[in-house]
Amino acid sequence: MASVLEIQNLQVSYRSREGILSSALAGVSFDLMPGEIIGVLGESGSGKSTLAVSLVRLLPRNGEIIRGAVHFEGQDLLRATPDELQQIRGRCISLIFQEPSLALHPTLRAGEQVRQVLAAHSAPGKSALNERTRQVFAQLFPEDADRISRSYPHQLSGGQRQRVLIAQAIACGPSVVIADEPTASLDSATQMELLAVFRTLRERMGLAMIFITHNPALLSGFADRVLVLYGGQVVECGPAATVLASPRHPYTKALFQSIPAIFEERGSGRKTKLPVILGDSARSSLPRGGCPFEPRCTERMSVCREREPSLVNLSASHEVSCFKYES
Ligand SMILES: Nc1ncnc2c1ncn2[C@@H]1O[C@H](COP(=O)(O)OP(=O)(O)OP(=O)(O)O)[C@@H](O)[C@H]1O
Ligand SMILES: [Mg+2]
Repeated sequence: MASVLEIQNLQVSYRSREGILSSALAGVSFDLMPGEIIGVLGESGSGKSTLAVSLVRLLPRNGEIIRGAVHFEGQDLLRATPDELQQIRGRCISLIFQEPSLALHPTLRAGEQVRQVLAAHSAPGKSALNERTRQVFAQLFPEDADRISRSYPHQLSGGQRQRVLIAQAIACGPSVVIADEPTASLDSATQMELLAVFRTLRERMGLAMIFITHNPALLSGFADRVLVLYGGQVVECGPAATVLASPRHPYTKALFQSIPAIFEERGSGRKTKLPVILGDSARSSLPRGGCPFEPRCTERMSVCREREPSLVNLSASHEVSCFKYES
C-alpha cells in the first residue's frame, strides 16, 4: 500500500537573534500509511512541535528547513509554492493545536468558525456551505449539534471547544490530521472521549493521524505505531503494541518508567517533568559525536561516546537507534 505522507531525512534548525543556527530536527524519516495513527512521543524540547509545523511549512520566521523531503501524494511539500501549500493545508492535511481557547475566535459562533474554514477552501453556494457545516457538527456533536453550533467559545467546555477545532480540521475532508498535544489541557475523562472521537473519524473517513503527546499512556489502544523522538532524532519506531509493552531503547524505557508521575499530573493541564531522566533533550544542548542520549543513559557503553548509533531493524517494522542492538 502506498503511504499518504512520506518524510525523508527532515532537518530543521532555528536561527537565534545573533544569527546562529541550532538544530531542532536532525534527520527524521518515516512514512504514514492511509488511515494509520502514529503516536509521536518525546519530552519537552525533543522536536515534536517542530516536526508538526515543518510538515505543512508553518515554522516561525526564524525556523529553517535545512534538508529533506515531505511527499504528500507524490508532491514534495517542502518545494511547493505558497499557493499550492494553501490548497493542501486544511483540504488535504490539517493541524490541531493544544490550546483550544487560543485557536478559536472569541466573538464568532462555533458554526461560523467552521463555515469560514469551509468557505476558504471551496466555493460552494450558501446552502451547500450551511449543509456541510451542519453535517460536520452532527458528526462531532450527535446530541446537541445545533446548540453548539450557535454557541460562542466561552459558552463551551474545554472538551467542546477542542471538538470545534476538530470540526474545523476535518471539515474539508483531509486525509491527514496532525494533532500537537490536542488533549493536553483537558481532564483525563475528556481526553479519553477525544481519543474515541479521533478513532471514529479514522473509521468513517479513513483519516490518518500524527498524534503528538508527551504521555505514552494515551497511545495504548489508540495508536497503531509509536515513534519516539529524542534530541530531534527518531530513537525508536515500531508497532504501538510492541513498543508500549516492551520498549527497547533505553530512552523509551526511561520515558515509560515515568508514567506514574504522568498519571498523577493528568488533568492538571501542566506538562510533566520526567523524574527518572533528568536533563535536557533539546538537540542544541546535547553532546556531539556520540549517542545523544549517552550522558543520561543507564546502559551506556564505551562506544556510545565514540560515534552516533544509526537505526537498526529489530524486525521488519521495529527500529531502534542503540548500539546494544547493532551486530
Ligand atoms: N521559535 C523558536 N526559536 C528558537 N528555538 C526554538 C523555537 N521553537 C522551538 N525551538 C527549539 O527547538 C527545539 C525543539 O522544540 P519543540 O517545540 O519542537 O519541542 P517539543 O517536543 O514540541 O516540546 P514541548 O513538549 O515542550 O512542546 C527546542 O530546543 C526548542 O527550544
Ligand atoms: Mg511542542
